[in-house]
Amino acid sequence: MDEILEKILIVGPASQILGVKIARELGIEAINTETKRFPDGENYLRINIEDETIITGKEVIIVQSTGPSSSRTQNASLIELFMMVDSIKRMGAAKIIVVTPYLAYTRQDKRFRPGESKFADVVLHLLNSLGIDGFYVVDVHAPTIIHECLCKAINIDSMKILANYIKSKGAEDIIVVSPDKGAIERSKAFANYFGKNVPVEVFEKKRDVKTGDIKMNGNLNLKNKDVVIADDIIATGGTMASAIKLAKASGARKVFAVATHALLLEQAKYRILNAGADEIIGTDSIDNEASKVSLAKIIADYLK
Ligand code: R5P
Repeated sequence: MDEILEKILIVGPASQILGVKIARELGIEAINTETKRFPDGENYLRINIEDETIITGKEVIIVQSTGPSSSRTQNASLIELFMMVDSIKRMGAAKIIVVTPYLAYTRQDKRFRPGESKFADVVLHLLNSLGIDGFYVVDVHAPTIIHECLCKAINIDSMKILANYIKSKGAEDIIVVSPDKGAIERSKAFANYFGKNVPVEVFEKKRDVKTGDIKMNGNLNLKNKDVVIADDIIATGGTMASAIKLAKASGARKVFAVATHALLLEQAKYRILNAGADEIIGTDSIDNEASKVSLAKIIADYLK
């Protein structure tokens, strides 16, 4: 049996709210970090403690999402994550658990064009090389890649809590629509949380790998239905907006635009709402106005 260690949580600079909430759920101490950028652009991070023995011999949970935001790029968040792991290791933690609700670079899990890297694997190899003991992500874009990290790695499913939020909004006669074939299994699992026979439909999406332009087709009967369009990520909102336009043209009543990780880059909010969505719903893997559903409890339940 594993020895029970005292737990302590490091609130990463990119997950300030979620980090504190998880620590509260677990009833453990939350420690912050101090960060800055040097004039040459390099990142600096220290764990905000004076007595390093606070860490020694403990199970240390680091919470740091790696999505882009107005205050930091995903590259900066990744570097900060690596720095946190290294400093915790140097202070003699007995166990290091990394919680990265949104993991950057997971959309680069394949080589689409000659000459490309498979950088998703590299990110996991780097984390693994730092010697972590556990790794938790939420609804990762390409679930199999987490096994590139050789420690215990878990992909937490946020669909139940997202579905509960939508139900609380009074959605009726729901149809779940998948914006592309890649998201269909996830959409089917999602539909089960709304009820036994909630139908799942799919649109046909093609993205030009050179330009990133999207073409979407599909003609469904969505008359008088509340439509939930579910994806793992909303980035520029192109996928979601195309799906919403088609759903509206197919007679949808209300449209809920749902993603675990609503990055909402560039003009995503305008594109999605202007296409006809009633609401954009995401989790607090990304700290922005769409983060209406907190992951704190479901993550804490795994960490107990
Ligand atoms: C792609 O396969 C993902 O699941 C999302 O559909 C995609 O990342 C969304 O990107 P955007 O919002 O830029 O269309």
